[in-house]
Amino acid sequence: MIKIEIATSTKDYLQIETLADTIWREHYIPIVGKPQIDYMLDKFQSAKAIESQVKDGFEYFSMFYNKIPVGYISIKQETDSLFLSKIYVLSNYRGKKIGKATMQFVENKAKSYQLKKIRLTVNIHNTNSIKAYEKLGFDNVGPIVADIGNGFVMDDYQMVKNL
Ligand SMILES: CC(C)(COP(=O)(O)OP(=O)(O)OC[C@H]1O[C@@H](n2cnc3c(N)ncnc32)[C@H](O)[C@@H]1OP(=O)(O)O)[C@@H](O)C(=O)NCCC(=O)NCCS
Repeated sequence: MIKIEIATSTKDYLQIETLADTIWREHYIPIVGKPQIDYMLDKFQSAKAIESQVKDGFEYFSMFYNKIPVGYISIKQETDSLFLSKIYVLSNYRGKKIGKATMQFVENKAKSYQLKKIRLTVNIHNTNSIKAYEKLGFDNVGPIVADIGNGFVMDDYQMVKNL
């Protein structure tokens, strides 16, 4: 029912761009406002930006539920950790264990890369996702603020899962 497939082509990146546009606008405009989301979607989640991140070592994967594209992730190998840079599921498909199955996939990837932890960052006001990460075995290790340009900052917590 749930399939996770690597994104490699412009068509795949465009599909992710469309998913990001829907998910980020709905989920993040109430948290950080429209100007920051317009900026972030263009800078980080356009098909072109995704293609350039893939060249820099990020791997993107799409999740399919009964063959429907319902979400995506991005991961990157670091020295000690696997960085889970993105994990997003369309709102109508949340709570169906797609996130859980995806996290198992990420865990298997980390192990295959001989990495002993997964780390991620999450907006400090993204309460539901923080709760989901805690259920999935992540610990909050404290705040981390990142300047993303144009006067915007990302006000996050860093969360870590030891494998
Ligand atoms: C966070 C997200 C990826 C989780 O995916 P999902 O498919 O909804 O999660 P699952 O159904 O697999 O649930 C995983 C676990 O978290 C728990 N959980 C999910 N949402 C929860 C919530 N709002 N409150 C408490 N627990 C929650 C589930 O009960 C489950 O735990 P269990 O197996 O012990 O019962 C998804 O909700 C999402 O895309 N959210 C919006 C976008 C976002 O904020 N992404 C993260 C950016 S850092």
